[in-house]
Amino acid sequence: MSKIATLEIDGNKYEFPIIEGTEKEFGIDIKTLRNVTGGVTTIDPGYKNTGSCESGITFLDGEKGILRYCGYTIEELAEKADFLEVAYLLIFGELPTTEQLTKFDEDIKEESHVDEDMKKILDGFPKSAHPMGVLSSLTSALIAFNPDSVDVDSEEAMYDAIVKVLAKFPVLAAWTMRKRKSLPLDYGDNSLGYVENLHKMMFSRPNKTYEANQIVNNALDKLLILHADHEQNCSTSTVRIVGSSHAGLYASLSAGISALWGPLHGGANQAVIEMLEAIKADGGDTAKYIEKAKDKNDSFRLMGFGHRVYKNFDPRAKIIKVAAEEVLADLGIEDPVLDIAKGLAKVALEDEYFVKRKLYPNVDFYSGIIYRALGIPTEMFTVMFALGRLPGWIAQWREMRLRKEPIGRPRQIYIGETERPFKSISER
Ligand code: SDX
Repeated sequence: MSKIATLEIDGNKYEFPIIEGTEKEFGIDIKTLRNVTGGVTTIDPGYKNTGSCESGITFLDGEKGILRYCGYTIEELAEKADFLEVAYLLIFGELPTTEQLTKFDEDIKEESHVDEDMKKILDGFPKSAHPMGVLSSLTSALIAFNPDSVDVDSEEAMYDAIVKVLAKFPVLAAWTMRKRKSLPLDYGDNSLGYVENLHKMMFSRPNKTYEANQIVNNALDKLLILHADHEQNCSTSTVRIVGSSHAGLYASLSAGISALWGPLHGGANQAVIEMLEAIKADGGDTAKYIEKAKDKNDSFRLMGFGHRVYKNFDPRAKIIKVAAEEVLADLGIEDPVLDIAKGLAKVALEDEYFVKRKLYPNVDFYSGIIYRALGIPTEMFTVMFALGRLPGWIAQWREMRLRKEPIGRPRQIYIGETERPFKSISER
């Protein structure tokens, strides 16, 4: 690949360096474009062809279905690591030693209390409030109780802020679920591991002894790992651009939660189950829904299908599909919705419309089936996605701040009215 890209406009030639990443990705560095061309910019709605940054955290290859965190494959991490190890890896760039992991775990536990006054904010929400809206608000509210902004030049201050949010976020997520169920809040148990404790805070009952289920905790741990980071997706880009104004970590994460909520992004896992339930209620007529998804006059999309980057298969979906079958078998659950999902995927993957557009099941297509088997309410599915994505958001925010990236401020091409004189109201 050449090291220089040449652009010709009106007979004038402009050269721009081509940068190469460690995985043979190439990007035209257009930092000087507007200046050297006298104001010409690029336009790329949805940034489908535009790189926002250089990053050393996650690598995706959409054609080959590759996903690696700091060089480790998602397949190996899902099989051999636990979520807290993966969180450490994403944030600090290396898998932790035993000492580092023990300290990380202990430091997080030390910070896992949430200010009692946060309960007053939670109580302000109606039970019907969507958990993602509640969680985004509670995350932002953490600023009020942890007002010191992060001194990003201090490794210690950055570490403390990271540990605090990793500690408090699962508590807020669990409290959000319990509020909807009119259950007393659970403060967790520091004798449990990170994921076990999350499950306990979500599912404990005041009138019976909580019993951990290893199958459930292993499945939850694997799901959180699979959702932990995914380079510059919509919500991560949101966390980065909000953080680029030097807004704090909690404010940036709160914005990321809101971006993830959308049904085209993390909200798809809830939408998938609602779609599968609708198909089941409609007699399991998958062909009808495939036709609806193909009909340009119908706004219906096959939720959990398609991906901006993966044009072959989403490696996470492959792992989650197998895990869904294993978890349902281990728990002795028969869920007809899994059969509908597999039937839908089979038909779609043989249909010209989906094949031509390279639409395959993505991370959201099967995850809801496991969440359901674990007893997690549908409206909490995207909160589970956020719990998994938290270390990725933190890692990307930290990288952006440490690299001192400039404030994000895209340009535009104006297509509105040209200059015109003011009209008094009597003339309008
Ligand atoms: C996530 O970016 C990430 O990494 C995200 C994520 C992460 O880990 O952070 O992987 C998590 O968000 C996964 C995606 C979850 N969303 C869904 O499952 C919602 C359904 N899928 C889509 O809406 C869509 O596929 C997107 C949003 C995922 C990707 O959209 P793109 O890349 O902008 O593609 P597009 O909308 O331009 O679609 C290209 C064509 C269009 O048809 P034509 O105009 O070419 O005729 O494919 C069609 C689309 O209409 N299409 C679909 C479809 N997805 C795309 N048609 C029917 N059903 C679908 N699901």
